[in-house]
Amino acid sequence: MQQFKKIFGESKQKIRTFFAPGRVNLIGDHIDYNGGMVLPVAINLGIEAQARPREDGIINMRSNISEKRISIDLQKEIQYSPSAGWGNYPMGVIRLLQMTHIPIQGADILLKSNLPVGSGLSSSAAVEVLTGYILMRQAGYEVDRLALSLLCQKAENEFIGVQCGIMDQFAVAMGVKNKAMALNCQTLENNYIPFDLGDFKLVVMNSNKERSLADSKYNERRAECEQGLSLIRQQHDVPNLCEAEFPMINELIQDDILKARATHVWWENQYVHEAIEALEEGDFISLGESMDASHLSLANDYEVSCDELDMLVDAARSVDGCIGARMTGAGFGGCAIAIVHQDEISKFKTYVGKHYKQATNLHVDIYECEAVDGVKEI
Ligand code: GLA
Repeated sequence: MQQFKKIFGESKQKIRTFFAPGRVNLIGDHIDYNGGMVLPVAINLGIEAQARPREDGIINMRSNISEKRISIDLQKEIQYSPSAGWGNYPMGVIRLLQMTHIPIQGADILLKSNLPVGSGLSSSAAVEVLTGYILMRQAGYEVDRLALSLLCQKAENEFIGVQCGIMDQFAVAMGVKNKAMALNCQTLENNYIPFDLGDFKLVVMNSNKERSLADSKYNERRAECEQGLSLIRQQHDVPNLCEAEFPMINELIQDDILKARATHVWWENQYVHEAIEALEEGDFISLGESMDASHLSLANDYEVSCDELDMLVDAARSVDGCIGARMTGAGFGGCAIAIVHQDEISKFKTYVGKHYKQATNLHVDIYECEAVDGVKEI
């Protein structure tokens, strides 16, 4: 509170506190924009916000991760600006809220994040959903979480220019404590599955490898999938790449790269189905096997892993008690995850940390994560 008042000054208006989690995708990457199944969980790393209304139609934002103060005048047209940095995420959401004629007011918002930025744990989706949620609640709205996640995805597609799917914003908005979300990205039908790993824990490993050119490579992958799909559609009426049959991919896509991308999509979607079944049955060994297979597919056919993520996954899998590991999210750097027996976690941290440092000269941050609720007021 004191820090908030130091930054934004005194006011009679009440300060409210909110939280938006990051997310880990257990399995099913680069599947959401291909209409398949994904299996994310909202995690206990995230962004807390303190927010207080203003009467002058200005939204001020500050964050503990950057000195930059963002100031948005609701009377003026909001435009993307490279110099606004992370501020473009809230700006995109605010612009769309305005276009949807939601009468948002000014606010002072202070963000405090323990979610590593740009590391593939959806820090951008968390900022987007959090901003939208705060401003809608402040305007007295009961928030429709699905609609909010779709609005934030649209902001990222149109304002930021990243052609992301729905998974991240959905997970941040719709997460439920101790549940994973088995989300069909074509229909948006979602099943909450108990996220109970028994004696095992979900571990996140941040490679601290900067995700250079990640946005442009992401868009490139998406375009490759669209090209593959359009080749199949010349002969078959399929709604999306995940619903194509494997022989269609093999026979109708001649280009090696496009074929490899579509092959990943097809297999990854099968692995998600297997993983959902394994999780429901408490068969963690099979869950781990699907995760291992998924990593290889992302690395070899989709080519979105990198040396650092491969090293983390290899190191993780050499520890007794680790039964599966894979990169998570878009890739090109960022985070990998592993399922590790609770008694072996400390050995795991030491071994992976040492091995990774020796191989890359980078430090790995390792977190034990739990599934938590989506965005909420505290
Ligand atoms: C990013 C995107 C998501 C999804 C993942 C890869 O996180 O925002 O929509 O495509 O990459 O699974």
